[in-house]
Amino acid sequence: MTSPQAPQSADGLLRPVLSECWDSPQSWTLATYRRFGGYRGLPKALAMPPDDVIALVKDSGLRGRGGAGFPTGMKWQFIPQGDGKPHYLVVNADESEPGTCKDMPLLYANPLSLIEGMAIAAYAIRCSHAFIYLRGETVPVLRRLHHAVQEAYEAGYLGENILGSGFDLDITVHAGAGAYICGEETALLDSLEGRRGQPRLRPPFPALEGLYACPTVVNNVESVASVPGILANGKEWFRGFGSEKSAGHGLFSLSGHVVRPGQYEGGLGITLRQLLEKAGGIRPGHRLKFWTPGGSSTPMLTEEHLDAPLDFEGMAGLGTMLGTRALQIFDETVCVVRAVTRWTEFYAHESCGKCTPCREGTYWLVQLLRDLEAGKGRMADLEKLDDICDNIFGKAFCALGDGATAPITSSLQHFRDEYEAHITGRGCPFDPAASTVWA
Ligand code: NAI
Repeated sequence: MTSPQAPQSADGLLRPVLSECWDSPQSWTLATYRRFGGYRGLPKALAMPPDDVIALVKDSGLRGRGGAGFPTGMKWQFIPQGDGKPHYLVVNADESEPGTCKDMPLLYANPLSLIEGMAIAAYAIRCSHAFIYLRGETVPVLRRLHHAVQEAYEAGYLGENILGSGFDLDITVHAGAGAYICGEETALLDSLEGRRGQPRLRPPFPALEGLYACPTVVNNVESVASVPGILANGKEWFRGFGSEKSAGHGLFSLSGHVVRPGQYEGGLGITLRQLLEKAGGIRPGHRLKFWTPGGSSTPMLTEEHLDAPLDFEGMAGLGTMLGTRALQIFDETVCVVRAVTRWTEFYAHESCGKCTPCREGTYWLVQLLRDLEAGKGRMADLEKLDDICDNIFGKAFCALGDGATAPITSSLQHFRDEYEAHITGRGCPFDPAASTVWA
């Protein structure tokens, strides 16, 4: 966040911003955060009328980093003003999309970027009590968050009369119990209110009726952590990263059969080919077979999409989604049917059971896929897979159902011959030992 210059060259697309301090000793402390330019954005925000802060974030082009890409400033603008109700800010830190692993390292290494961003967002939407809903299994992250909140209180960045502005904010950190469905924003709100996490019908969206039936902004960790940089350096600086309609920087998480898996940060619109260059490529002696742009809920792509821009438009143009930029890379040793079966087992296990298409559909998808992988499948099963997906997609209560169909429909589109080989050959033609992730 320190330099106001935006990168121009293709190589410059990769540049750490949120991750700039990650390798520094005690990166999670207030002292380090300040050394890297932290808390330059909040004083600027507090000197502006709240609506101007919203307008700035809107003009920056920041779109939600949790997967859906909804414009952040617009979401803030939806919060009604003068309604006499409390307003809430809830940060969704329940990251659990398969392959997704950007928010946890961000919170672990640089939690104060979120805390500063929350103060700015809360000020903009006139909120005095904000929540962080964290994936509860990540105890080391929970500890770092508590430490960061405490440091922010002690330094006058939280609590009453922040920096003498008259603005008050309290932050509560809540550890969830580790259910994928609680990452869905309305299930998260139910869980935060003390109920079993199950999605609510939308509309009303949380912006009108969210936590305790009050107007609520639910934002992803990375979205909020990106806000201080926008305040500190300006909207043009932020727009200097990324592409026209997908502005800004983002964390790209590479996992699987790459030489150097990990987090790579840069402008949206970078391609997988460029990322792979930095990550050392596919493991030696092997070639790319398939990959997910943003976790398993985003339809898979293949080698022919290596040069597609990893931004919202580029991915939508290919019938997939940018999602959480969780790039899971699989080489030619991996059986696509086996990988898809494993993902589908996850969705069936995590389905909350509230709606029939998702609860029953994911169960039957698993049965069919297991049979195919075991060599007990029939050609008619491929039509059945398509048919069940069709009965889930757009008919389930929340995005979990749609997400569950993505690996199946996209793999049938790209690798139908491999499904057929499992049927005609009466079993899986791949050696599972060969695909073990190489380290
Ligand atoms: P969505 O597109 O329905 O909504 C996105 C956001 O915009 C929500 O906060 C919603 O309240 C708001 N919104 C949309 N239309 C609105 C309107 N008319 N008025 C007010 N607010 C409005 O997407 P959804 O269902 O919230 O999330 C699905 C995404 O979540 C998927 O794209 C997937 O990539 C991602 N995902 C991320 C996971 C993670 O671990 N980060 C896990 C699973 C899914």
